[in-house]
Amino acid sequence: MERKINNARALNGEITPPPDKSISHRAIMFSSLAKGESRIKNFLWAKDPISSLNGMKALGVLIEIKGTNKEIIVHGGGLKSLKEPQDVLDCGNSGTTMRLLSGILSGMPFLSILTGDESLRQRPMKRIIKPLSMMGANIFGRAENTLPPLVIKGGHLRGITYEMPIASAQVKSALLLAGLYADGETSVLEPHKSRDHTEKMLASMGVDIKINGNEIKLKPPRNELSAFDITIPGDFSSAAFFIAGATLVPNSEILIKNVCLNDTRTGFLEVLTKMGGNFQILNRTYQAGEPVGDMIVKSTQELKGVIVEGELIPRLIDEFPILCVLATQSQGVTIIKDAEELRKKESDRIRAMVTELSKMGAEIKELKDGVEIKGPCKLKGAYVYSHMDHRIAMALSIAGLIAEGVTTIVDSDCVDISFPDFYSLLEMLQK
Ligand code: S3P
Repeated sequence: MERKINNARALNGEITPPPDKSISHRAIMFSSLAKGESRIKNFLWAKDPISSLNGMKALGVLIEIKGTNKEIIVHGGGLKSLKEPQDVLDCGNSGTTMRLLSGILSGMPFLSILTGDESLRQRPMKRIIKPLSMMGANIFGRAENTLPPLVIKGGHLRGITYEMPIASAQVKSALLLAGLYADGETSVLEPHKSRDHTEKMLASMGVDIKINGNEIKLKPPRNELSAFDITIPGDFSSAAFFIAGATLVPNSEILIKNVCLNDTRTGFLEVLTKMGGNFQILNRTYQAGEPVGDMIVKSTQELKGVIVEGELIPRLIDEFPILCVLATQSQGVTIIKDAEELRKKESDRIRAMVTELSKMGAEIKELKDGVEIKGPCKLKGAYVYSHMDHRIAMALSIAGLIAEGVTTIVDSDCVDISFPDFYSLLEMLQK
């Protein structure tokens, strides 16, 4: 589908971002391993977390969906209750589903095969195959154990101490989940801290998990994990598109309600502050063990270019596409580096943003591990491609709001991976 975006006069109003994608995946997977009934409210009904839900069902977990607000009841049978799936598990576009499930399935004595769509089948899996094999799993992939589909026959794992070459919450989570089934302690060390939703949720279920800087140690539980009730907070990464939209479109003021403000996710706000953005956080509280709050965002005329690197990168990894759009409107040079990981996301996000923003007239240069962008620059409407990547489609749509003329996003429907209501909310804020 193609979507036409016109130059916007203002964004005004109030939105509640969709439920957090990372927490939705974890809630459905971890409650399936607990003993007893868990209730999940405000689950993200988008393609990615639905891949995780379908995966758990295929592994024999009884999952009920109740009422008009689609509350989920998971009847967890305990750590060892999963059954051999009768067919290949299709993870769709979701790297989180494939990598986290691989960790769990490495602890299971049966055979599973995991595949995904064209994009996922190109994404690197050696990063989990190597350490899960070290723990004793039989796990194989296409292209000499580097790519999906994956074949896993698990059981008899031993805890390892593993120094991760890159910061990745998916890899870290896969190892911690496998650690639940291992003999002895599993210890994972990250070069920088990545999102910590897995650690928080497992600890709340009674797992002995200790965090010391960037090192996480997990002891295999002696008892079953506790079932839980959770109401999932709003997704900061989805909110970020509107934070940028309200910052860039003149005469805007929006209220974003109930967004998760976990500091392993909000590096983008630190960068926006340095750039000179105008936002305020209100009503800070906790939900589901995570800090949450409301945000007021107003437009800003004078943004400044910044350098973004190092430990900040994993804390804003999914905000790279929208950060590029902000940088095109900032005075001076913005450099984003140490971010080669972005080439291995749903698309090569460095190449995708350079290609598409260039079509709109931006001064953007590709670096090996990031981009260099000169601003401010008046963007022009153009025919741009989503690269079938939800975050690229949404970032280009926000760019379209400030471009002269009409911007057409080709293959825009991929937003339904994480944010099915994105375009209706965007229209609502323009009324
Ligand atoms: C995610 C971790 C990140 C992120 C992805 C979701 C998660 O990936 O980019 O959108 O839920 O754990 P990496 O672990 O590959 O950095």
